[in-house]
Amino acid sequence: MTDIMQNANPLPEEFKVKVLRQDGPGQNTYWEHHRVDYEQDMNVISVLQRIAAQSETIEGKSVAPVAWDCNCLEEVCGACTMVINGRTRQSCTALVDRLLEEDPEVIELQPMRKFPVLRDLVVDRSRLFRSLQKTKCWVPVDGYYDMGAGQRQSRPEQEEAYPLSQCMSCGCCLDACPQFTKVELERQDGESETAFQARKEAEYDKNFVGAHAISQVMLFNANPTGKNNANERVDALMKEGGIQVCGNAQNCVAVCPKEIPLTTSIARAGRATTVRAIKKWFDR
Ligand code: SF4
Ligand code: SF4
Ligand code: FES
Repeated sequence: MTDIMQNANPLPEEFKVKVLRQDGPGQNTYWEHHRVDYEQDMNVISVLQRIAAQSETIEGKSVAPVAWDCNCLEEVCGACTMVINGRTRQSCTALVDRLLEEDPEVIELQPMRKFPVLRDLVVDRSRLFRSLQKTKCWVPVDGYYDMGAGQRQSRPEQEEAYPLSQCMSCGCCLDACPQFTKVELERQDGESETAFQARKEAEYDKNFVGAHAISQVMLFNANPTGKNNANERVDALMKEGGIQVCGNAQNCVAVCPKEIPLTTSIARAGRATTVRAIKKWFDR
């Protein structure tokens, strides 16, 4: 805990938390207010744990615990991403002492804005993973036998690739992107789960893939083995919802918690798609 804060503001005994709740997909949202006793070194996950244990609002009304998602608790999995005091970020690394410096009265929690809400602060990020699938962001192997050491990457190649490899699929870059608009579909009467998933994926594929996928294409295309499928990935970026949708607003690079050089990746991907288009034209 910070001496700066201790000097600037006396430590509060308690603070308020305002949570935007939603009981299920497609349902109405409503604000709920909680009071939490202050302890040193809390993060937003520990605040949500206290709220779950209390299960009571400021007004004394008994409520179901707020739902949220988390996993690694060290800003690696991206699962705990939500909008905290208006900023999309990971709740495991959002420290209460810092948040109370921004607003000593209240901490405001909302789900991410560009993904369908499943419940409270839990969103369906399947579109984000579908983008990685669409753009073939993996290195295929043709078996699980020992294939020996792979090709080596030079030091400069490693240094260029490493920052991109830190993407944790958190969705911050998508939440901030004006071109990444929310796609929310509901299951129709009589529609099987399989048919619903297929319809969702088809709809996702028509919409913008997002900065994370563009950057991952550059990562896998630079991999010595991944290079073998480079054209397939670039072709995927040239389809509907591909790189042409990017308006170059650069919000993505400003919000990425891993400081991934997304606009550099987008510029490199833009050049790759242009070269690919010219080659295809000459090959006709
Ligand atoms: S640069 Fe492209 S991907 Fe990044 S925020 Fe702007 S439109 Fe979205
Ligand atoms: S590029 Fe950055 S903001 Fe986007 S999903 Fe990856 S880690 Fe999150
Ligand atoms: S719990 Fe994994 S990033 Fe926060």
